[in-house]
Parts: sequence; C-alpha cells; structure tokens
Amino acid sequence: MRYNQRHLTRWPTLKRAPQRCGWQVLILGLCAHGGDPGCTEEGICQLEFFPGIGEIQYEGPTSRNPMAFRYYNASEVVHGKPMKEWLRFSVAFWHTFRGDGSDPFGSATKAWPWEDASLDPMEMAFRRIRANFEFLRKLGVEYWCFHDRDIAPEGRDLAETNENLDKVVDLALDLQKQTGVRPLWGTAQLFKHPRYMHGAATSPQAGVFAYAAAQVKKAMEVTLRLGGLNYVFWGGREGYHTLRNTHLKTELDNLARFLRMAADYKRKIGFKGTLLIEPKPQEPTKHQYDWDAATTIGFLREHGLKNDFKLNIECNHATLSQHSCEHELQFSSSQGMLGNIDINTGDPQTGWDTDQFQISDPVEATLLMAVVLRQGGLAPGGFNFDAKLRRESTAVEDLFYAHIGGMDALARGLRNAARLLEQGEVDSVIQARYSSFDEGIGKDIVNGKVGFKELEKYALSHPDPIEDLPSAHAEKAEIVLSMYVQ
Ligand SMILES: *[C@@H]1O[C@H](CO)[C@@H](O)[C@H](O)[C@H]1NC(C)=O
Repeated sequence: MRYNQRHLTRWPTLKRAPQRCGWQVLILGLCAHGGDPGCTEEGICQLEFFPGIGEIQYEGPTSRNPMAFRYYNASEVVHGKPMKEWLRFSVAFWHTFRGDGSDPFGSATKAWPWEDASLDPMEMAFRRIRANFEFLRKLGVEYWCFHDRDIAPEGRDLAETNENLDKVVDLALDLQKQTGVRPLWGTAQLFKHPRYMHGAATSPQAGVFAYAAAQVKKAMEVTLRLGGLNYVFWGGREGYHTLRNTHLKTELDNLARFLRMAADYKRKIGFKGTLLIEPKPQEPTKHQYDWDAATTIGFLREHGLKNDFKLNIECNHATLSQHSCEHELQFSSSQGMLGNIDINTGDPQTGWDTDQFQISDPVEATLLMAVVLRQGGLAPGGFNFDAKLRRESTAVEDLFYAHIGGMDALARGLRNAARLLEQGEVDSVIQARYSSFDEGIGKDIVNGKVGFKELEKYALSHPDPIEDLPSAHAEKAEIVLSMYVQ
C-alpha cells in the first residue's frame, strides 16, 4: 500500500482504540480463541500500529513527497554494490519504541499506539516488539539494534529477568523468520539501573562487576540466538566524577579484565560477530574512559585487546569530543578499527548529546560515505540510527519522516562519494602532496635506510626546502569537494 495523506487525518482515532491480543496470541501470532479483539475469523492476529502507511517507495530526487525516498533505491547498484549493502541501515529499538519525549525538565510527550498503561509489563514488551517489526518492514530496513532492558522488563531477580528476556526473544525470533530481519547488534544496558551508579565494569564493588558480567553474558547469548551480527559495549557509567575518590588505574585495569572475559566468552559460545566499543568523552559521567577513537584504540593496544574489538563511532559523540565525525571515522579506519557507525548528529548551539537525525547536511554525508567506500564497506557492521525525534514531534508518521530523511541523506552522500572516488580528483591531489616520499631521500626515510646522521648530511648539502615548498591549496580543495555535492 502506498502512503496516503487521507489516512493521516484519521490517525488520532487509533490512539483511542488500540487492538489487544492475549499472551499466546502475541507469542504465536495466532489467536487463542475466536472473538479476541484484533483477530480475524481465521484466528490471525491483526495488530497494526501504523495503519495507512504502506511500504515506503523510491520516487527519485524530483519527488515532493516527504513519505518517499528521493535518493535511497535499495537495489540500485552504486560503486559496485546495491545501495542497501553499502548502507546496512538499522533502527534503534530504544529511541524508536521506548523514547517517550521526556527530558530532565519535563515528562513524556508521546502517546504511541503500542503503549497501554493498563497492560502488564510483559504484554507491553510483546506489543513493542510487534510495532518494531511492522515499522522495519514498512521502512524497508533489514536490521535492528537493542539493549537487553529495552526489549524486556526486569523481574524480581536476575533469574526472572533472564526468563523475561527469553520470552521476548522467542517472539522476536518468530517475527524475524517472517520478515528476514536480524539484529545489526545487541548490547546490555549497564547504565540505567541504580546498581550501576558507580560504574559497571569500573564499579568499586566487585559484586556489581559480577552482576554486569552476568548481564553481558546473557545479552551476548540472546544476540547470538537472534543471529545478531555484532555486539556493542557503550560504557555510559565507565568513568568518574571526581579523582578525589577514584583509583584511576584500578578502574582501567578492571575495564580491561571485563573486556577480556567478554572476548573469551564470545569464542566459547561460537559467536562470530564483531565486538565493538563505542567511544564517548563524557555525559553522563564527567570523564568517560573511552574518550574518543584514539584513546580507545590506545587502551585496547595496551591491554592486548586490539584484535578482539573494533569501534562503533557515533557522530554526536565525535563532536562532544571536539572532533568531527569524519575525523573519528578516518582515524578508526586508518587503524583497521572502523566496525560500525551510530549515525546521528548534534546541535552546534546546544552542545550536548542531542541524538538528532542527520537529514539536511549533504556535505557531511558525502565525507562520511567517502571513508566507508574507501575501506570497502562496513560489513558486518552498518549504520544504526541512534537518533530520536524532537520532544515536540509526537505523531507516529514523524518516526517515518525521521528515518526516511536520515536514510536519504546517507544515500545522497553515497551517490556523491561514489562520483568523488570514481573521478579520482581529490585522491590524486592528496597523493601528489606526498610525492616527495616516493623517491630520493623521501623513499630512503620510508624504507628506514637513513637516520639523523644521514639526514643532517643531506640537509647541509641541499638548498633550504623553503625554496620549493608548494601551497596546500586548501580553499581550492574545498571547491573541488563542493563540485561533487549534489
Ligand atoms: C531502482 O533501482 C532498480 C535496480 O537498479 C531499477 O531497476 C529501478 O528502475 C530503480 N528505480 C527507479 C524509480 O529509478
């Protein structure tokens, strides 16, 4: 079904009459008994949370329809691969299905049709999972990402919490089989519960370290069960607020111990996916240990973990660490460590982690995609939309607009970057700039044939290099780039 404006005006009626199905219905996709509201005569569960919105179509750059793609044509081959293989889009379950618009200053603003306070927490969890798969199917996205605690509620103790998670994963597996969708990555939420207030792997309490390990163990197991392609570590509480009470080296050593145990367990259970660390400099802690790509890679090298992990670079985290997203991608890629991108953007005036969809900056999208094309793609990683609607965007169709806008921005960047690389103009300018290392004394430096003694002899016997130092033509390089941004 194509998107139809008429349906949107009718949308509010859906909020008043959410369809309900019982537990078995939600697990099996079949109705337990006739006459269950939300079921057909044949006993098929008919929960639909986005009625009136069909599969989003590609209509080309001249389209004026905001509910259609203008640049993203999934099967179209660009730079040797279908667009969907370069982009490998994923929807973040936490923002899209758990985000309620609340912020530190105000309560929830959204009344999503799958939320119903009268239902028990497990029945709610099943509804959200169903909404997720309907959304992915209509958007044409093949991957999703989740934290353990977003998809299933905590029970009275860890054993019951694990049981809850297993029941929700059963339903997700069933819906994955019907839709062909799978997780781009899974992760454990080690920052929300008060038990992690001092940290998880870096908590001064050994019992918290153990609890966090048990939680990650389970989250890795369910990620494997769901066919997840990667597993992510974001250490929201792995940092400190004051050095007056913090033994920095103990905490860093414990973090390394924790990550080593995770890598060992990954091998033990035969999980083939990549383990990814997501750098962020601060927020919620004042100082987070995985500050940026360079810090994180140095830490992994120091502890002999470099071959077991790659990085998941989030663009808004990059800007919080005073880098551009392009810098973080370029740096990670140059070290063979770029595994996944959490695509979003911040706000230049606000300055905190606003997790916005990057919709309207084709220059940035082109630069990011150029890094991805140069390294031959991100697989088994991809682009996860770690992004949320603004607090005041409260209609369900806004979830579609946001993701369509974000997908189109990167698809546009992909088309531009492909032209940029294929023409070779930018690369040849960069190459020419370093050509003095291709011959003579430059080649001897690269090949380790000379030391300070030989170089002094060279400098004394040659004219001062200031005599033929070329211009960098920085502004010209910007003009050349702009020629490729369409
Ligand atoms: C989308 O790409 C496919 C595969 O390359 C192509 O057949 C189709 O014509 C494209 N769609 C449009 C509307 O251009």
